[in-house]
Amino acid sequence: EADKLRTRYQDSFSIGAAVEPYQLEGKDAAVLKRHFNSIVAENVMKPINIQPVEGKFNFKEADKIVQFAKKNGMELRFHTLIWHSQVPEWFFLDKDGKPMVNETNPKKQEKNKKLLLKRLETHIKTIVKRYKNDIQSWDVVNEVIDDGNPANEKGLRESPWFKITGTDYIKVAFKTAKKYANKDAKLYINDYNTEVNPKRDRLYNLVQDLLKQGVPIDGVGHQSHIQIGWPSISDIEASINLFAGLGLDNQITELDVSLYGWPPTPAYPTYEEIPLDRFEAQAERYNQLFNLFESLDDKISSVTFWGIADNHTWLNDRAEQYNNGVGVDAPFVFDKNYKVKPAYWAIID
Ligand code: G3I
Repeated sequence: EADKLRTRYQDSFSIGAAVEPYQLEGKDAAVLKRHFNSIVAENVMKPINIQPVEGKFNFKEADKIVQFAKKNGMELRFHTLIWHSQVPEWFFLDKDGKPMVNETNPKKQEKNKKLLLKRLETHIKTIVKRYKNDIQSWDVVNEVIDDGNPANEKGLRESPWFKITGTDYIKVAFKTAKKYANKDAKLYINDYNTEVNPKRDRLYNLVQDLLKQGVPIDGVGHQSHIQIGWPSISDIEASINLFAGLGLDNQITELDVSLYGWPPTPAYPTYEEIPLDRFEAQAERYNQLFNLFESLDDKISSVTFWGIADNHTWLNDRAEQYNNGVGVDAPFVFDKNYKVKPAYWAIID
């Protein structure tokens, strides 16, 4: 018992994994059931999958994940109601099929904004009503802050959502989710690089501002796509404490520890070529990380890995992309054959 992740951390936070529907059977499912008590959809609950065509909702794949969680008594996070990526084009086209972002006539801009916010409301309302009894944590908006130097001084991402509605899409998204979600469900603003500036302070300022306006945000989701040497443990700690200081919950929502820096070059061409000392270094990193999470467990309600085992991770695609099609990563605590890694013992012991 003590060697199950979920049991090891049962007094602190839930332990989650991102899944694709195909992973709800076979070896993935076995590891899921043994070690995890929370899941989230890696892709199938994103806008492009749920409402590819206006008014045509597709819940088939999402339902499989909901059923699995129910059957196995697991918590469920929803990822994600609104995002700038994996969102179908039709959201941002006016009634004549013209891109709203190109509109220059102020009256038509106002009309477009109304139409887009109406579509956003319908999308959120339909999903939240359907799944309200199944979801404990909602990623309401994802990645709304820019890392670089956008034209706006608050550092918000200049997505079509932002260009057409300003920050109103964020406010309407939270208010709509709040209106239809269960009373005890929690609403999150989710992002990556939340530990480092400029992202951290931009996110802090935005959230503080929205809270003052009465926008119902319950917590910050820290994606935590991190590396062995970055960011520092003290930066991670400071960020959790900063948001807790606003009275918010924190969740670690997409944890993976890449073997590489940025960009991920050169990458090991095959899994077998990864030197053992890389796995040892990764284990040390995981040890420090979970020691920190445990010490902050009154401020962190769940820790979710962005996958299960090293055979399936978006980081493999990224390693390939940056290394001419040949490269692997190994970010999790289970190896590509689902065997426990040094990193696993580093967070169990
Ligand atoms: O489903 C199609 C398939 O039909 C097609 O044959 C194939 C060919 O490329 O593509 C498949 O879709 C891919 C999808 O994953 C499902 O596998 C997309 O191309 C691919 O872009 C998509 O990548 C996902 C990515 O988000 C999209 O931006 C990753 O799996 C997913 O791990 C990643 O997750 C994000 C979080 O949502 C937000 N935070 C960052 C994180 C990592 O990028």
